[in-house]
Amino acid sequence: MKVLVSEPIAQKGLEKLTQEGAVVDVKTSLTRQELLDVIGEYDALIVRSNTKVNEDLYQKAARLKVVGRAGNGVDNIEMEGATRRGIIVVNTPESNVVSAAELTIGLLFATCRNIPQLHNRLKERVWDRAGLKGMELLGKTVGIVGLGRIGSLVATRLKSFGMNIIAYDPYISDSRFKNLGVERKNKLEELMAQCDILTVHTPKTEETYGMIGKEQFKAAKKGLTVINCARAGIINEEALMEAIKNNIVKRAGIDVLEGEPHATSPLLDYDNVIVTPHAGADTVEAQDNVGITVAQEVISALRGEMVPNA
Ligand code: MLT
Repeated sequence: MKVLVSEPIAQKGLEKLTQEGAVVDVKTSLTRQELLDVIGEYDALIVRSNTKVNEDLYQKAARLKVVGRAGNGVDNIEMEGATRRGIIVVNTPESNVVSAAELTIGLLFATCRNIPQLHNRLKERVWDRAGLKGMELLGKTVGIVGLGRIGSLVATRLKSFGMNIIAYDPYISDSRFKNLGVERKNKLEELMAQCDILTVHTPKTEETYGMIGKEQFKAAKKGLTVINCARAGIINEEALMEAIKNNIVKRAGIDVLEGEPHATSPLLDYDNVIVTPHAGADTVEAQDNVGITVAQEVISALRGEMVPNA
């Protein structure tokens, strides 16, 4: 069982793979061409969100039986090509949801209280709060788009701050909404018109890509705070920048950028946009969970055993 790990995963995950008898190569700085040149030697590939697992790669991957996604979103993996070739794709949908929800809350506080801007001023030896008055969360309405695993963790946490929670998610049952104490909005525009803070928690799919765009910002309440710890493009970046310029959006906290990884997004030029480099799952706990889970799943798939997240 030869396994290529093309992006960093936790040591515990690597240990699990070797304990189970796999030969593991960790090669996290391969160029695309180098990856294509070596992939033919491997039975399994473990990736995070940066490696594009697509037709180019499948064509070179004669031995490949399993792709392990160390994380949740599988938008960097072409499923159809994998299925056609009988390559199993496994992911770890539960392993990092708490960390993603916690970073969402962190960005929400950081944006609403201008924490990074205040921090930067003081570090520059300037004691000055002028122009950086924050917003309290108590009594405000948060609009959650996507009330799945992460969205519902965010909802329960924000309830404890005395916020009203509304959500848009056509795939979640009324009883789930009721149990979470969240009010359902059947139209995205209705949610936009009512929320003070918008946070998105959907996977990136054809249906969700660009779902928050010009039209939705037109419907938004003025002074909106926007948080995206899910995937770039669910909120159209151009439309977001326009909404900031038009004072519809007052502040944003963004963990995901179009075309990442890179540090050249025009969003970085806005003082009222707080950014992190796709760090939602970057905690010791989440990475240990993800690493161990993906290792176990890859081994099971290579052995032809049942795999829970295939
Ligand atoms: C995920 O999809 O699990 C997160 O975005 C974290 C990651 O990509 O590693």
